[in-house]
Amino acid sequence: MFVFKAAVVGAGTMGGEIAQVVASAGIPVVLKDVKQEFVDQGLDKARSVTQGQVGKLVEKEKVTKEQGDQQIEEIVGRITGTTEYEGFGDVDFVIEAVPEKMEIKQAVFAELDSVTPGHAILSSNTSALSISEMAEATSRPDKVVGFHFFWPASMMRLVEVIEGDETSEETMQSAANFVQQIRKTAVRCAEVPGFVVNRILNSAAAEIWRVTDDEGIDPQDVDKVIQESKTIPMGPYFLADMVGLDVTLHTAEHIAESYGERFYVSEKLRELVEAGDLGQKTGKGFYEHG
Ligand SMILES: NC(=O)c1ccc[n+]([C@@H]2O[C@H](COP(=O)([O-])OP(=O)(O)OC[C@H]3O[C@@H](n4cnc5c(N)ncnc54)[C@H](O)[C@@H]3O)[C@@H](O)[C@H]2O)c1
Repeated sequence: MFVFKAAVVGAGTMGGEIAQVVASAGIPVVLKDVKQEFVDQGLDKARSVTQGQVGKLVEKEKVTKEQGDQQIEEIVGRITGTTEYEGFGDVDFVIEAVPEKMEIKQAVFAELDSVTPGHAILSSNTSALSISEMAEATSRPDKVVGFHFFWPASMMRLVEVIEGDETSEETMQSAANFVQQIRKTAVRCAEVPGFVVNRILNSAAAEIWRVTDDEGIDPQDVDKVIQESKTIPMGPYFLADMVGLDVTLHTAEHIAESYGERFYVSEKLRELVEAGDLGQKTGKGFYEHG
């Protein structure tokens, strides 16, 4: 199946960038959230990411300033914001990126089932929840699939395509093709805790969290040493702030519950989430954000 039009539900940390990725591959996309201010934040994010990408092309003299400005308007112009399900009647592929709570996801999937055409594939950007459970809220479980991007979605090339109990082979193949259509790389995986990437990432992060807590080290000092080593672009605490501490904690707890004590969960992370400090999106986490 070729995707002529797509939709993204949830315009938060991930949704705005995912819509930008789809639009910059030439595909019209509807971006939905519950309030206009959230939709606008998603659209602003998509514009600023596009400006950054096109700005680099102008700097390298691959395109002129005028061509660059036109490209920005064309890409951003492919994204239509909405607080209703307007424009969902002719979409081929939907990516859900609402908060990581099963009751919210199931409610959204039930709504999507009634507002999208029968052939449309309904996918979830969930980090850890069951695709099969989301599919139960629809009348088309064979067309429900995991479609997991990584932060920041505009830069990270990998998308995990996750097979639920009822996902058909045709849906898996169409989802993997769509990953290529938006110029990313697909990795197919089973519905297992942490899928592929978060299982690997969390095994490393858990050790760092354990030592930091045991030794009473300042998380920012840990990040500084890791960043100075130039092995990865940023330390685990800064990354967690960018991803959102609620999302990070939810994934970490899910993996620890599934695989046992070798996956330690940071105490400081729990404390910050309890206090409502969720990282960049609330202005404070392991760092203060301007
Ligand atoms: N943050 C990350 O780095 C990251 C990475 C990969 C996957 N994910 C997953 O992506 C999903 C979204 O995460 P996020 O970090 O973008 O969350 P977020 O909290 O930043 O954004 C979620 C958005 O969904 C909106 N929303 C809530 N209910 C809605 C509804 N019924 N209809 C439409 N919009 C609704 C909220 O208003 C909010 O703007 C989660 O499942 C998360 O696990 C997150």
